[in-house]
Amino acid sequence: KKVVLAYSGGVDTSVCIPYLIHEWGVESVVTLAVDLGQGAELDAIQAKALTAGAEQSLVRDAIRELITDYAFPAIQANALYENRYPLSTALARPLIAKLLVEVAEEVGADAVAHGCTGKGNDQVRFDLAITALNPKLKVLAPAREWGMTREATIAYGERFGLPSPVKKSSPYSIDLNILGRSAEAGILEDANLEPPEEVYALTKSVQDAPADPTYVEIEFEQGIPVGLDGERLDPKMLFEQLNLLAGANGVGRIDMVENRLVGIKSREIYECPALLVLIQAHRELESLTLTRDVTHYKYGIETTYSQLVYNGLWYSPLRDALDGFIHATQKTVTGVVRMRLHKGQAVCVGRSSPYSLYNAELATYGEGDQFDHKAAEGFIYIWGLPTRVWSQSQRG
Ligand code: ARG
Ligand code: SIN
Repeated sequence: KKVVLAYSGGVDTSVCIPYLIHEWGVESVVTLAVDLGQGAELDAIQAKALTAGAEQSLVRDAIRELITDYAFPAIQANALYENRYPLSTALARPLIAKLLVEVAEEVGADAVAHGCTGKGNDQVRFDLAITALNPKLKVLAPAREWGMTREATIAYGERFGLPSPVKKSSPYSIDLNILGRSAEAGILEDANLEPPEEVYALTKSVQDAPADPTYVEIEFEQGIPVGLDGERLDPKMLFEQLNLLAGANGVGRIDMVENRLVGIKSREIYECPALLVLIQAHRELESLTLTRDVTHYKYGIETTYSQLVYNGLWYSPLRDALDGFIHATQKTVTGVVRMRLHKGQAVCVGRSSPYSLYNAELATYGEGDQFDHKAAEGFIYIWGLPTRVWSQSQRG
């Protein structure tokens, strides 16, 4: 039996290697570490997997793909789970799953494996994405079944020559990629406790953010961000720069209690500087360029879209269908949005588009007004007809 394991280099996924071999009788473990911009040292991770007993240790760079194929559609959908979380972790899972399946097919494996626990959303996302892409592959989740405490896990690893973590590992469970950083567990489990500053890594506190604001102009083409401050940037550069600009101004923090798919409420701390600013700016450009009816109808699509991504249904006919609608709406979402980043807040202060539907001559209260005020009277008479009939019937 040959298994491809999604590998991060952390304690849990490292222990998965001897565990699969010695407890579950797997003959060959191939590890796959995916670079999603988490800043890990992938050479060291590659070597570590071999030490832990992997037969082959592979690394793939997928940063660009994460942005273009997963984050861009989510930005076009203004996808925010429960109106707040821009799905930075959730979007990465179907991509990792896709790479796992590709490698499994290349090396002729019968199964793929991941290190998720049985309490979270991530296990659902991996399992469903893998099944959607190749229903013949078995999915193994050792950490879902072994029932070991953290100490026991480390001790188990030491028996097979895995060094126990050198630096005291973080008291939080962290997931990091170029779209954002998620922190949970430890003292964060007290939903009534303000997170200590050490929880954050990508954003400054409001106190430490500069006194003066930073302005940034974001250029979109058909709903996709293509440049900053007049300069065209490739997707990775754009995210890196905007993460720094927004993060330095304390923009991008989210502290929320969210509803996991498995029914648990969990307290999560997110930092998604660039992704949040991009969604906000994108929405602003839509206010300028989409008609009222499309805008309002799209709200419902956006809610469904964010739930679908959160709940692990990235590869699904529903997403295909919703993407069809969203794609059709984005043809005119082209233009520039100017954002002010200051002391933890991102505020839109200007927007322009060659497809703008905003008409100053209709909107103005000053000279040159083109709106026919007289026509409003007839409109209100007919619009108010049902209200009048109802009101009169109430009075009898
Ligand atoms: N609750 C978030 C989500 O479901 C983040 C999960 C973070 N994962 C982790 N392994 N720490 O998308
Ligand atoms: C996990 O339990 O593996 C992480 C948390 C989550 O998936 O929501």
